[in-house]
Amino acid sequence: MEKKEVLKKLSPSTNEFQGIDIESIQKSFVNHLEYSLAKDEYSATELDCYKALALTVRDRLIERWIETQQAYYKHNAKRIYYLSMEYLIGRTLGNSLINLDLYNVVNTAIAELGYDLKELRELECDAGLGNGGLGRLAACFMDSMATLEFPAYGYGIMYEYGIFAQQIIDGYQIEKPDNWLRYGNVWKISRPEYLYPVNFYGKVKQYYDSDNHLKTEWVETRQVMAMANDIPIPGYKNNTVNNMRLWSAKSTRDFQFEYFNDGDYEKAVKEKAQSETISKVLYPNDNVHLGKELRLKQEYFFVSATLQDIIRRYKKTVKNGFADFPDKVAIQLNDTHPALAIAELMRILVDIEDISWEKAWEITVNTCAYTNHTILSEALEKWPVYLLEHLLPRHLQIIYEINYRFLQRISKKYSNDIDKIRRMSIIEEGKDKKVRMAHLAIIGSHSVNGVAELHTEILKTRIFQDFYEEWPDKFNNKTNGITQRRWLKLSNPGLSDLISSKIGNGWVTDLYVLKQIIPFTGNPDFQESWQKIKLENKKRLAEYIKINNKIEVNCNSLFDIHIKRIHEYKRQILNALHVITLYNFIKENPRADIVPRTIIFAGKAAPGYYMAKLIIKLINSIADVVNNDPDIGDKLKVVFLENYSVSLAQIIIPAADLSEQISTAGHEASGTGNMKFALNGALTIGTLDGANIEILEEVGKENIFIFGMNASEVDELRHHGYNPWDFYHKNPQLKKVIDMINNGYFSKTRVFLFKPVIESLLDLGDTYMLLADYKSYIDCQQEVSKTYKNKKKWVKMSILNVAHTGKFSTDRTISEYAKDIWNAKPVHITIPEKSDEK
Ligand code: IMP
Repeated sequence: MEKKEVLKKLSPSTNEFQGIDIESIQKSFVNHLEYSLAKDEYSATELDCYKALALTVRDRLIERWIETQQAYYKHNAKRIYYLSMEYLIGRTLGNSLINLDLYNVVNTAIAELGYDLKELRELECDAGLGNGGLGRLAACFMDSMATLEFPAYGYGIMYEYGIFAQQIIDGYQIEKPDNWLRYGNVWKISRPEYLYPVNFYGKVKQYYDSDNHLKTEWVETRQVMAMANDIPIPGYKNNTVNNMRLWSAKSTRDFQFEYFNDGDYEKAVKEKAQSETISKVLYPNDNVHLGKELRLKQEYFFVSATLQDIIRRYKKTVKNGFADFPDKVAIQLNDTHPALAIAELMRILVDIEDISWEKAWEITVNTCAYTNHTILSEALEKWPVYLLEHLLPRHLQIIYEINYRFLQRISKKYSNDIDKIRRMSIIEEGKDKKVRMAHLAIIGSHSVNGVAELHTEILKTRIFQDFYEEWPDKFNNKTNGITQRRWLKLSNPGLSDLISSKIGNGWVTDLYVLKQIIPFTGNPDFQESWQKIKLENKKRLAEYIKINNKIEVNCNSLFDIHIKRIHEYKRQILNALHVITLYNFIKENPRADIVPRTIIFAGKAAPGYYMAKLIIKLINSIADVVNNDPDIGDKLKVVFLENYSVSLAQIIIPAADLSEQISTAGHEASGTGNMKFALNGALTIGTLDGANIEILEEVGKENIFIFGMNASEVDELRHHGYNPWDFYHKNPQLKKVIDMINNGYFSKTRVFLFKPVIESLLDLGDTYMLLADYKSYIDCQQEVSKTYKNKKKWVKMSILNVAHTGKFSTDRTISEYAKDIWNAKPVHITIPEKSDEK
């Protein structure tokens, strides 16, 4: 009998590992505890129990996983490859249970054995392999692609250390390493058999072969190996389980034996450790490009391994060359971080596969697509030419060639416009020449998309205007989204159940179905249940705050929440100015009937971002004063929750009344936190920025609080010379707030502590125009409080927000990518019945 047939014959019958009744799950759990983890009732820890449960759930994914991967071969499907340096996944157990539709049965099975599912879920470490929006978007995309049955793969890096754990000590952020793999990870399956060499350094050799063709080789390189680690991504209630493949760096051989044999153990170990640093840590910066060599290594490492894997898979199914490559492969670049894929694919096609430049270029452009995530100039990737020359000499040559050919075209068309040519070049001229990765990504892709309507307009009319004029059809918008499976069904079971009790479960796979709750908006019973659920969620958060911050908050106060990365453009300082304004008002008007508020912040600052870290200290210092002032009582509380993460977001967002989305208009590409809040019934206070504008369009202006300048007004004011001092002198309320910070009211022992904050607002030009928007923000916050007093009105607005979030599902976003960019079709997976007869 053939080996394959033997394997098939011996494969266990469905019931052994797949049973979804209570008894089968309990048996699986006990089996794993004993045989996978070697524990008994005396030695099993809580963590062992979590692991045994996770393994039990994983078993139920495996068959579907294999079946899915085989089906993609059988259908010879076009594959979608999502390339992202970040995946902010969070925990997997709860999400898998939801998607496998096993939550309730596992809950019961485990409870009968004396365990609490919620408690076990808490033991799972978050996979924090991302910084913020970009990484979380990639995780939501993976969920939607599997749910929509697309043949999709996520590729990235298996960082040994994810985003740092944040501690707040004396009000300051302290970073601790996130050693998330310390106790192993049940969802990660290492595949040492998928091991690819990745080359660095070396030099380029050119020669003429016997047919007089110029050949190019990249030689004398140093190699690092990339090893695959797979994580299963189940779709919701279908049989699809897609694959996420994250690379870890391994040295080429376990040890350099020459050194080892010579007795130079230290050198042998050092070399091994050095090559493995590539996948050691995630760079903890959001929306900023630092230009570190190790980061460039990470980018190439992951691109090179991924392309080798893609091409290996392609060659298994297509035997007659690369002409069909774009029909079988779609590569989506999540920002410019994987943009080297364009140069690497050209290198493989031209140097290794011997394809002509012209043909290779056509294949590359038709395969690759680029998503831009930011217009902040400090975030645009530009790598010094000397660094590329040193690390990736052949790629630099290829980039030069791409640029040369592109500029030839442009020069012919606009012969005299040197300025335009200079602007469009991939190379930024100057003392230190730089490679503009965004230009490489635009020129080498057939699609360039922004992530919200306003953002795409800004790309077309401002930062990439020349390219848009050249290729108007390349540019398109794909407004971001979120997966409702995690951000409502899993994180807010109370609200989910209430909604489903009225309109069924259709919304879980078609978020537009939420519109069907509109008729219940005025129904008093429905309103009451809605409010009760919000209150329960607030109590849960209040409990968390009590345990972690030792602060008692009033659950009847307005929960006003500002959670996201700390960044000047996101304007946490503007919120802080409002806090102080409220504080002053309460002090000056002790008898005023004010709406009590609990103002909650959370978010990490990049460790090297001085001002962001000072903002955290400022918020905590304000909190100290406000929370301990007996005149204030529970009218106002300020809370900074440490270590913001996906799991913490799942507790905070369902409890929110008000969602702060207050970036300076024209700066936030989209935002996705804004969508998560609206989906959980929080009302937004926001500027006309990113996807806030689309939330406004969906929910209507009567159900959202919009303030401040729009993007054109911001530009105009900047253009005409913005002077923050004018606003400071004009508004005594603002002046008082600023002076209090400046004079050490919140830093009595170090009076000058917050001087840099005030300097940035007054002396250094207030880049993000907080002072210009202050009055409008304060007025709008008063409108919020007034509305909150009217409970009936508030609850109606809350219901209508949820009802109108249909557009913001990543299911919609992914359907648009698949249709407009990838030309990909779903593959429906069926699991064959297994007979017990072998
Ligand atoms: P990859 O797509 O080659 O990375 O393989 C992933 C999974 O797809 C494997 O573990 C197999 O389960 C399945 N697979 C690989 N090659 C084939 C094939 O030729 N036909 C059907 N299934 C395959």
